[in-house]
Amino acid sequence: MVAGAAPYGKRGGAALAVKGARIAWIGGAAEAAAKAAANQVPVEDCRGLWMTPGLIDCHTHLVFGGNRVEEYEKRLCGVSYEEIARAGGGIRSTVEATRAAAADSLLASATLRATRLMSEGVTTIEVKSGYGLELAAERRMLEVARELSRRLPVSVRTTYLGLHALPLEHQASRAVFVEQASGAWLETLANAGLVDAVDAFCENIAFTLAETEQLLRAAQDLGLRAHVHAGQLTDMGAAELAAKYAALSADHLEYLSAGGAAALAASGTVAVLLPGAYFMLRQSNPPPVPLLRQAGAAMAVATDCNPGTSPCTSLLLALNMACTLFGLTPEEALAGATRHAARALGLEAELGTLEVGKRADFALYQIERPAELCYNLGANPCVGVVHAGEMRPGASYMPARCAPGSP
Ligand code: NIG
Ligand code: FE
Repeated sequence: MVAGAAPYGKRGGAALAVKGARIAWIGGAAEAAAKAAANQVPVEDCRGLWMTPGLIDCHTHLVFGGNRVEEYEKRLCGVSYEEIARAGGGIRSTVEATRAAAADSLLASATLRATRLMSEGVTTIEVKSGYGLELAAERRMLEVARELSRRLPVSVRTTYLGLHALPLEHQASRAVFVEQASGAWLETLANAGLVDAVDAFCENIAFTLAETEQLLRAAQDLGLRAHVHAGQLTDMGAAELAAKYAALSADHLEYLSAGGAAALAASGTVAVLLPGAYFMLRQSNPPPVPLLRQAGAAMAVATDCNPGTSPCTSLLLALNMACTLFGLTPEEALAGATRHAARALGLEAELGTLEVGKRADFALYQIERPAELCYNLGANPCVGVVHAGEMRPGASYMPARCAPGSP
């Protein structure tokens, strides 16, 4: 699939040339074969496979300690996410486990999760901090996220989620926490080169509009773009605030007004839909996809991989849920994990479509038509991945049916 007007940007009988880490040429297969022979360039024949841009998971909390399986059991017995959060559980219990975890163990568990995402064709992952909520632990989370991209053939974008929950030690000093998190800590982490963007959980159980704005303003002063967790449980006007600061994305958006959708479209802020969290929290009001469409807002889809509300390491499953639960078309969902996900990370010039000059990140699937990437529940049709021009080791790139000589 390449950028273009055909459904899914589909292009049949195509070939693609890679030079270094970039896509150098896209054209017809016959022409490619002739050029390759003339220039003695090695050729891989992928007959019958579908190629997509490398998938992009643009919203994850991939680095964390422990898990929240007990909380899951409680929720199934009728205790709500809000009740658990207000009783000091939820995000704060992961904060405790994350603060207690050594970098090595955070790296080991995040590596496992990243590997699962990558096995489906994911080549770029956004990773948020936000379970440290003190400088040292936030730094450790971001360093682990950076380390992931050094150890694995995947790109990582780091997001400093400075305002995720109020930590226990600041229950009586809220303003001090917000001031530190948006001030000295952000500055220190940004100066250390650990922050690609910032994020805040703007919600009645988390941070107010004014507190969120304090972080967004500080980020703006440092030249950093933002994401905002907006409208997950209530509509506090967080989407409008994200738009006011030209945030890269506003995420969740189950509670969003027509005005909010229009504001996102006008500011070019991507609406990131997170059906995993919606599903796990057994919510019943999907994001207003028709309003977003009508407004012309770009929609992305991500796993929101986190221990509390979305222990999901399958972006393809998130695509299925975006279609089944939110009513996206498979074409919209796939754009949401490629083109629009790239834009949600500010990387649209570099990633998200198969175009000459962009990074050679792509995935190969053994499917008959692209909608199958959304249709299957729990199957993984990915048979090969190329990241920055390099074939991922261990990828079963040539399945039996397209081995040389097979029909
Ligand atoms: O995106 N909403 C806030 N943050 C996460 C949940 C994190 C957690 O419960 O640990 C989310 O759903
Ligand atoms: Fe999240």
